[in-house]
Amino acid sequence: MNILASTSFISPNILAIIYLIAAVTFILGLKGLSSPKSARRGNGIAAVGMAVAILVSLTQIHPHATQIILIVIGVAIGAIVGALSARKVKMTAMPQMVAAFNGVGGGAAATVAISEYLRLGVAGRGAVVTALTTVLSVAIGAVSFAGSVIAFAKLQEILTGVPITYKGQQVVNAIILVGILGIAVYLVAVGTGTALLGILLVLALILGVAFVLPIGGADMPVVISLLNAFTGLAVAASGFVLGNTVLIVGGTLVGASGTFLTKMMSDAMGRSLGNVLFAAVGKPTESGGGAAGATDKTVRSGTPDDIGVMLAYSNRVIIVPGYGLAVAQAQHAARDLARALEAKGVEVSYAIHPVAGRMPGHMNVLLAEADVPYEQLKEMDEINDDFRNTDVTLVVGANDVVNPSARNEASSPIYGMPILNADQSKTIVFMKRSMRPGFAGVDNPLMYDPKTIMLFGDAKDSLLKLVAAVKAA
Ligand code: TAP
Repeated sequence: MNILASTSFISPNILAIIYLIAAVTFILGLKGLSSPKSARRGNGIAAVGMAVAILVSLTQIHPHATQIILIVIGVAIGAIVGALSARKVKMTAMPQMVAAFNGVGGGAAATVAISEYLRLGVAGRGAVVTALTTVLSVAIGAVSFAGSVIAFAKLQEILTGVPITYKGQQVVNAIILVGILGIAVYLVAVGTGTALLGILLVLALILGVAFVLPIGGADMPVVISLLNAFTGLAVAASGFVLGNTVLIVGGTLVGASGTFLTKMMSDAMGRSLGNVLFAAVGKPTESGGGAAGATDKTVRSGTPDDIGVMLAYSNRVIIVPGYGLAVAQAQHAARDLARALEAKGVEVSYAIHPVAGRMPGHMNVLLAEADVPYEQLKEMDEINDDFRNTDVTLVVGANDVVNPSARNEASSPIYGMPILNADQSKTIVFMKRSMRPGFAGVDNPLMYDPKTIMLFGDAKDSLLKLVAAVKAA
């Protein structure tokens, strides 16, 4: 039974206009996300547009269709699960939640295309465009679904984060891809073949798993962004299958923005996308891969009281937040320290590296949650020249993003990654729990710099001790 009604009280023209308005809200939403100041508003505008698009689409269902009950139950379950998980998720677990939601989107696009195929048959529709968009939706949606499941499992540590590789792996993956393309071309040319569509689906699921397994857990945010772009394309393709313009526009926007984000993340890490996807970065090597190990170099450590006095008598302080600040949930303590310093007349700003933390905008979101004024958040290019005029740089749970070997050592795995010039400030206070390396697993010469003072401990504890020391100074 065709559940799409021709009896809807909304005429096709009005429907098209409402979908167009929804599409405009998505574009405004994306524009808003380009700055922390407007991000919440942008998200809200796009969410309203999406809610309207969903409601209007529901009016297109035939009122007597038995499926309507199932659809309403499905929408209710999805909305409850989505809202509860978004409220409960810890900031550090945000990448895996994005992976899970993205996977569901890709799976939905593939399932919709399959059900339309079973209902009408590709040949039944008789159009090459429908056949093409059906196979694209199934293939890309299934790759995105299976790849996102593996990305989720790696980030959640259900699977090892170490790249899982074997000899000839890329050749096997290429053969699966060629198989998918071959079946897709046949289905588009001949227009029918339910069994073949099933094989295409299985191969695409296998490719999704096989493609993500050899990529290290650390590179998962980039992979998720790429899979997100895939999901967008799959959704746009299923929009063609269903003849639904808002799906086409929304999917295309996700595809385009996900592609840009993937490129920007790779660039910010100083690596090509090919290197992220195929170099199995993070796999242990015989030599240890330049990882930090036992060393006879000496470090200088300090006490919160001494460092607090030094901070209170500074003119300018820069805070460099990193992944450890997110782990310690130390954003409120960082803000309190900044306020205590400002009360003493010290100028404070935050230097935000584009890949600090584990997801795009991680530090902006954390600091916005703690009501840090947007004007104090400075992007890398904006603040990098200011470090040389800074009395103290506080590196709070960051590591790779201030590692000078990215600039100086051609043999370093992070060589070429743009970094914050923390080493150029007069004094550096490095706040972490141990001498362990950061995400890239490489030693950081800045910890042994004579200008550096290590303040060992949990970032939140240390910051709270510094607040007390600054107030007492
Ligand atoms: P990292 O280099 O990962 O360093 C984080 C540091 O935080 C660690 O050295 C750790 O040292 C410390 N730490 C952990 N828990 C702590 C706690 N409770 N209190 C205090 N310190 C704590 O972080 P980063 O500088 O933010 O760099 C991000 C890295 O992630 C880059 O290599 C980047 O390429 C990568 N990456 C980022 C993204 C995005 S989009 N942001 C995506 C993929 C990869 P201890 O264990 O000694 O405490």
